Amino acid sequence: MTLSLHCDSEHDMSVLGAKLAQALLHLQLPGLLITLRGDLGAGKTTLVRAILRGLGVTDRIKSPSYALVEPYAIDRKSLQLKGTLQTHAYHIDLYRFSQPEEWDEAGLRELLDGQSFCLVEWPERAPALLPRADLEIALIPVPSGRDVQLRSGSPAGAALLNQLVLAQART
Ligand SMILES: Nc1ncnc2c1ncn2[C@@H]1O[C@H](COP(=O)(O)OP(=O)(O)O)[C@@H](O)[C@H]1O
Ligand SMILES: [Mg+2]
Repeated sequence: MTLSLHCDSEHDMSVLGAKLAQALLHLQLPGLLITLRGDLGAGKTTLVRAILRGLGVTDRIKSPSYALVEPYAIDRKSLQLKGTLQTHAYHIDLYRFSQPEEWDEAGLRELLDGQSFCLVEWPERAPALLPRADLEIALIPVPSGRDVQLRSGSPAGAALLNQLVLAQART
């Protein structure tokens, strides 16, 4: 399943992130791999930040470029999440990933086992190591803002897109 959207502004992108977060919460925040493609400045971190805010994260959300991965605690109780093991969301940025050893050193093998909720910028930097994404997001700068393409790669990803379509229809 694919969905093509347009975001006029950073605010619009934040609204999309909030809706994605609502869709994730509706699905009880399953273990999912979401990848975000797009050049520098395309808006990947902006969208990740809005998703994490929508999941109740109030910590400062910085780009995890040097650490490769930044974990964020999820307050399941205040989100009234049941039946899920997700206690953290992981923001991974592979922009500076170059040596295969870094993968295990950063703990990415364990994180990307399908059980954790991971948002990954620059997936194209590790095509052989990264498992198939449940949802692939591509951000394309255009003169009027950003075109956003979302493509599911699994039944869980398709369920998420379905929820997003329902959320879009409500506004
Ligand atoms: N839909 C949009 N239209 C115009 N500008 C946007 C939009 N979304 C994000 N931006 C801006 O583009 C920049 C994106 O930066 P960032 O999110 O760090 O990109 P990336 O992580 O892809 O390198 C920010 O300055 C943000 O304000
Ligand atoms: Mg970024």
